[in-house]
Amino acid sequence: MSRAGAVVVRRATPADAEAIATIHVDAWRHNYRGLIAEATLAGLDVAARAAAWRSQLDAGAVVFVGTHSNIRTDIRTDTQADTRAGELLGWVSVGPFRQSESARPEVRSLTPGWAELYGFYVAPRSQRQGVGHALWQAALEWCLDQGYRDLGLWVLAGNVPAIRFYQRCGLRDLRLDQDFTIDAQPLVEKLMARTLTRPA
Ligand SMILES: CC(C)(COP(=O)(O)OP(=O)(O)OC[C@H]1O[C@@H](n2cnc3c(N)ncnc32)[C@H](O)[C@@H]1OP(=O)(O)O)[C@@H](O)C(=O)NCCC(=O)NCCS
Repeated sequence: MSRAGAVVVRRATPADAEAIATIHVDAWRHNYRGLIAEATLAGLDVAARAAAWRSQLDAGAVVFVGTHSNIRTDIRTDTQADTRAGELLGWVSVGPFRQSESARPEVRSLTPGWAELYGFYVAPRSQRQGVGHALWQAALEWCLDQGYRDLGLWVLAGNVPAIRFYQRCGLRDLRLDQDFTIDAQPLVEKLMARTLTRPA
C-alpha cells in the first residue's frame, strides 16, 4: 500500500515498547542486509528488545512515534486505513549526546552539550512516505525546546539512503569516522551533525 496519509507524531509510552521493538528488528533485517552479518540479523529478539524499551520508557526515555492519522474521511473507500489507524509507523529517540571514553579526542571535545539522535527507524513498508520527515521535525522541536544548539548522530558508513536522508535534514558528515563492532563484526560509523535553528 503506497498511501502515506497524514502522520501524527506523539511521545511514546511504555505501552509502545513492543511496537517500537518490532519496527527496530524489522528495519534492521530489511535495511541492514549486506551491511550487518546475517547471523546477527537472524538472532535479533523482539521480546528482549521490547523489555529493554519498556524499562527505558518507564525511566523517561524521549522517543517520538509516528502513527496514521485517524481522520475518518477515507474510511468508506479504504477499510485498511481504518484498521491501521493508530498503528506505529516509525520512531526516533533523542537525548544528550553520549560521551564515550573510547571516542576520538576530537569527538570528546566537540560534543558535550549536544543532543544526539540515538535511533531512527521507520517500518519497512512505510519508508519513503514522509514518516521520517515528520519524526525529524518533532525531534528538532524537542531539541530546540530543551535549549540544544547542536545535534549529532552516528550512522553506519555504508547506510547510503540514511546518510542521504540526514543530509536532507541539514546534517553533514564531520569526517570523524569511528570503528566499532557488533557480534565481533568490524564496522565503521560516521558522525553527522548540524547546528539547530527553528524552521522558518
Ligand atoms: C532513514 C529513515 C529513518 C528515513 O525515514 P523515511 O520515512 O523513509 O523518510 P522520508 O520518507 O521522510 O524521506 C525519505 C526519502 O523519501 C522521499 N519521499 C518522501 N515522501 C515520498 C513519497 N510520498 N514518495 C516518494 N518518495 C518520498 C524523501 O524525499 C526522501 O528522499 P531522499 O532519501 O532522497 O532524501 C528510514 O528510511 C529508515 O528507517 N531506514 C532504515 C533504518 C535506518 O537506516 N535508520 C537510520 C539509522 S542511523
